[in-house]
Amino acid sequence: MAPRNPNSEKIFDFVVNKGNGIKGLVDTGIETVPDLYILPIEERLLPNNILPYDSIPVIDVSNWDDPKVKESICDAAGKWGFFQIINHGVPLHVLDAVKEAAYRFFGLPYEERNKYWAGNSPTDTVTLKTSFVPQAEAVLEWKDYLSFRCSPRDLESFPLWPPVCRDEVVEYMESAKSVIRKLLEVLLEGLKVKQIDKAREYTLMGSPIVNLMYYPHCPNPDFTAGVRPHSDISTLTVLLQDDNGGLYVRATENDSWIHVLPINGALVINIGDILQIMSNDRYKSIEHRVVANRSKDRVSVPIFVNPGPDAVFGPLPEVLESGEQPLYKEVVFSDYFKYFFSKKHDGKKSMDFARI
Ligand code: OGA
Ligand code: NI
Repeated sequence: MAPRNPNSEKIFDFVVNKGNGIKGLVDTGIETVPDLYILPIEERLLPNNILPYDSIPVIDVSNWDDPKVKESICDAAGKWGFFQIINHGVPLHVLDAVKEAAYRFFGLPYEERNKYWAGNSPTDTVTLKTSFVPQAEAVLEWKDYLSFRCSPRDLESFPLWPPVCRDEVVEYMESAKSVIRKLLEVLLEGLKVKQIDKAREYTLMGSPIVNLMYYPHCPNPDFTAGVRPHSDISTLTVLLQDDNGGLYVRATENDSWIHVLPINGALVINIGDILQIMSNDRYKSIEHRVVANRSKDRVSVPIFVNPGPDAVFGPLPEVLESGEQPLYKEVVFSDYFKYFFSKKHDGKKSMDFARI
């Protein structure tokens, strides 16, 4: 990576090394976007590249056992990789509470937030970070996030988690669990897997991560990336967004993007790399990106449903049964995870790690 100019170095030091985050920088009252956050033109989301009339499917899941519902889910996973679900059973008050908890945490003074900054945190199950991999990025992402590892074992460190948001995070995670299970059952049934046994459960959802994402308002969001185009490395991701919008999904191989319209009470579901690999490309892990808002602070709460760290995954035997060639090799999840977090967000390049 080319060396940064002296002003960018100063800002990098304030935001990353001192742990102020982009929240801290915005709190200083900046009125323009610093160089450190300005994307080259070819990386910006231009209005011409947004398809105004398209949207991802919205699926009513009040009856999971309805074959039509199952079909819509599997179809959406194959064609779009993204869909929203409504009537999923996670109470609205639980969704609202976790969004408020995110605002509460990021509303804390620097000294309080900084206790959880990577390196300071009393437990590695909760860490506050900024951008994605700042050391590997010439241009940083306009976001901070508090990340919770949420496997049953990780939850033992709950007493060390920030009191202003920990109950809400756990309640959200707990009530989303049955939705996650249902989605995985339906999606795997679509791959001819009849039952999710304990070993498969560990591979599919052994170590979930919940993030409280915070995208402070930005003087010129068009110049910046809240999150660069990327695909998730999860099996699937359950995302709660607020009513500001700003999440875009890649539409075609051309450079066009579809806005994910905020729907109150809905959850956005996307297929991650792991399910694309396990399904040997029947389901698609689609690129997406986030643009911050000019006047409002945006929050979102993704649950990355990840395999256990030592889980080994590859195309499922049920999928290859009829003699189909595997497109991916078997990979240990912790290796895939490390690879992803060693580079900047870069479209779908993460999947090269597993490709044959
Ligand atoms: C992510 C992501 C979307 C959002 O963190 O991987 O895509 O709306 N977030 O915050
Ligand atoms: Ni994502």
